[in-house]
Amino acid sequence: MATAQENPLLEGLQLRRMPDPCILVIFGASGDLTKRKLFPALYSLAYRRLLPDNFSVVGIARTEETDDEFRQRMKEAVQQFGRDEFRDDVWESLADGVRYLAADFSDSKGLDRLVDVVNELDDERKTGGNRLYYLAIPPSAFETVVEAMGKRRKAEGWRRLIVEKPFGHDLESARHLNSVIEHHFEEREVFRIDHYLGKETVQNMLALRFANGIFEPIWNRQFVDHVQITVAESIGIESRASYYEQAGAIRDIFQNHMLQLLAITAMEPPIDFTADSVRNEKVKVLRAIHTPGPKSVVRGQYGRGYIEGEEVAGYREEEGVDPQSMTETYVAAKLYVDNWRWADTPFYVRMGKRLPRRETTIAIEFKRAPHPPFEELAAEGLQPNVLLVHVQPDEGVSLAIGAKVPGQGLTIRTVHMDFLYGGAFRTGLPEAYERLILDAMLGDATLFTRIDEVEEQWSLVDAIVAAWVRDRPAFPNYPAGTWGPPSADELLRRDGRSWRTH
Ligand code: BG6
Repeated sequence: MATAQENPLLEGLQLRRMPDPCILVIFGASGDLTKRKLFPALYSLAYRRLLPDNFSVVGIARTEETDDEFRQRMKEAVQQFGRDEFRDDVWESLADGVRYLAADFSDSKGLDRLVDVVNELDDERKTGGNRLYYLAIPPSAFETVVEAMGKRRKAEGWRRLIVEKPFGHDLESARHLNSVIEHHFEEREVFRIDHYLGKETVQNMLALRFANGIFEPIWNRQFVDHVQITVAESIGIESRASYYEQAGAIRDIFQNHMLQLLAITAMEPPIDFTADSVRNEKVKVLRAIHTPGPKSVVRGQYGRGYIEGEEVAGYREEEGVDPQSMTETYVAAKLYVDNWRWADTPFYVRMGKRLPRRETTIAIEFKRAPHPPFEELAAEGLQPNVLLVHVQPDEGVSLAIGAKVPGQGLTIRTVHMDFLYGGAFRTGLPEAYERLILDAMLGDATLFTRIDEVEEQWSLVDAIVAAWVRDRPAFPNYPAGTWGPPSADELLRRDGRSWRTH
């Protein structure tokens, strides 16, 4: 097998060390995540020869399937969801080490069998006892698995635990889960996924802020008027009613992805880029977020409407959803980070399903020029400077500035200086899961959430949700295909501001 250094596909990418040979054990392997994200990510890693020699996978789930059937299904999933061309030789090299076990992981017999399969594979493929356990299962099933895997520790090799979200349902359940994990695994062996941290553009926020001298001096309350973060999706809840009815937008997106985006935007420069330094700074931001009052939080639920010209059902009409459901599919909030850098600077955040388009952006809106001599001459009103980070789609960064319109006179109009990933770099963007799986194999937890961050995130959510029991908004309050309820616009209008439209 060629080494990473000889691989021409790696040109332009920073080379890192190769992970040790290991076995990835996926609990919940028959689920959507394995098919849509994990196998396509593993294939892309194999395609770039970033996987260690003898890398192996054991999928475990209740569904009856043979090794061959499982491999065939995963092959089709890679063909359907993968981002790279499909090559038989790459797939075969990966599929060679793939096994499947149909077993119930809530019973210890099933788990004993798993241990046998993994040990045999370990001997056969010389993976040195290194194990990566991936929990793609509901939190209610974590306990037995964590305990069983914790107890059946091998003397040689390392073991790590990747935990998918949701990590609990509130602060108390998150603490309970953690106490179970803590009993068997050390914190440095635990990798809690927030896949937004694996997105290139989210990491680029760190590069933008801390690798450039020009932004940091103005990244504070003196120059920034406010920040807007949007996580908009045009999809509905797809087939996840039973999960979503319990979660709602606040637990599904706000508790994790949104608060992490905010933390990365607002954090102080870390002293280095080790996992602890970065997470120490993020947790300080999370701790400093002031609990918003009820007037600063808006919730919404979509009704029937149109997405790209097609009529779609309202949330309460979706299969598996209670027709009287009070679950929110939209949240907007005004948050304050109570520290020296950000005091009195609002962070407006919004997230929702069935909004007009898929868009995740972080907009830093700067204060206006102190004395604009061109005011009357501006064509569309002189706009403030905005640094817009397009997390997805059209990944890139743009800076809105005022420029003179060519011709006689002095008319000013807003133009954009754009950096687009597609244009600037030859390589396509990796999927978040490629980065995260590889980092976990390397034992690098920088892009995973530490338990104290998770706890801070839940404390804030618990406080917001506690205030919700007191009132019942008239749901549905926004038609599918619109930008959320009118009260969300009102939230900004009260402050003399409005949500960005592009
Ligand atoms: C998941 C949520 O964490 O993130 C989903 O559970 C949501 O509801 C998804 O659709 C969005 O991820 P992405 O990468 O498509 O923005």
